[in-house]
Amino acid sequence: MSARHFLSLMDCTPDELVGLIRRGIELKDLRNRGVLFEPLKNRVLGMIFEKASTRTRLSFEAGMIQLGGQAIFLSPRDTQLGRGEPIGDAAIVMSRMLDAVMIRTFAHSTLTEFAANSRVPLINGLSDDLHPCQLLADMQTFHELRGSIKGKTVAWIGDGNNMCNSYIEAAVQFDFQLRVACPEGYEPNAKFLAMAGDRVQLMRSPQEAVAGAHLVSTDVWTSMGQEEQAAERIKLFQPYQVNAALLDLAAKDVLFLHCLPAHRGEEISEDLLEDPRSAAWDQAENRLHAQKALLEFLVEPAYHHA
Ligand code: CP
Ligand code: NVA
Repeated sequence: MSARHFLSLMDCTPDELVGLIRRGIELKDLRNRGVLFEPLKNRVLGMIFEKASTRTRLSFEAGMIQLGGQAIFLSPRDTQLGRGEPIGDAAIVMSRMLDAVMIRTFAHSTLTEFAANSRVPLINGLSDDLHPCQLLADMQTFHELRGSIKGKTVAWIGDGNNMCNSYIEAAVQFDFQLRVACPEGYEPNAKFLAMAGDRVQLMRSPQEAVAGAHLVSTDVWTSMGQEEQAAERIKLFQPYQVNAALLDLAAKDVLFLHCLPAHRGEEISEDLLEDPRSAAWDQAENRLHAQKALLEFLVEPAYHHA
């Protein structure tokens, strides 16, 4: 199958990624100025959600409509996927009817299996391993508010989860230094660490990780699918809460990002999203603009008139 997929930040070159960020900023400006831009008229995105979502669903759905196309929400509960139809078969059929597909799932292999059988681009809307669309929004937000991230220091605090793995890929692709502070046993996947080499430093101390950092980010301590571990994780992750005092150790112009949803009082202090150093609301909005740039990049433009 020849379609171009976006399952990971490594599916694009660094230049393409910077191009997507720049385009996201342009599309945001077009929308703010009320300019109609509909290159994907008549194009249809299918969205399979095996996990809950607010931002990802809304940003893809609204984004497709704004680009002139449409999006269809599909859940395993009311498709044959929930009744055991193989994902490869679903990919063959769905990709004959749709122009692109987005999947939010558990095992990353669901995405690779779909992609291997799909005629149309597949986008990773989050897997247990990676959340690359979120990184497009995060990188756009940093770029808008602080300029290029190249050569900067980024601190990831807390769980070595799917978001952390995508930050590791971002460190390689956007050329920044990443410090990951996590409790023992909750390190990011060794495969991503090995790929990143000395781009990423692993440490235990959040204070050490944020010292002089230009960007600090964290995420929930219990990701979707880990609910039964929640009580144990809350105890273990206590020293990893990001709060104003921790950010005081970072660079003066540090930016704080959180992919949301946030658990106030757990991974962040009650008031952190209101701290002037937090850009989490802009970051959430940028999911829309960054993904519109991605859709424009991946999906064939409008049909010709007969
Ligand atoms: N950040 C993010 O992906 O949010 P949702 O789970 O609401 O889509
Ligand atoms: N790590 C979180 C991200 C949610 C957007 C999860 O996978 O649940």
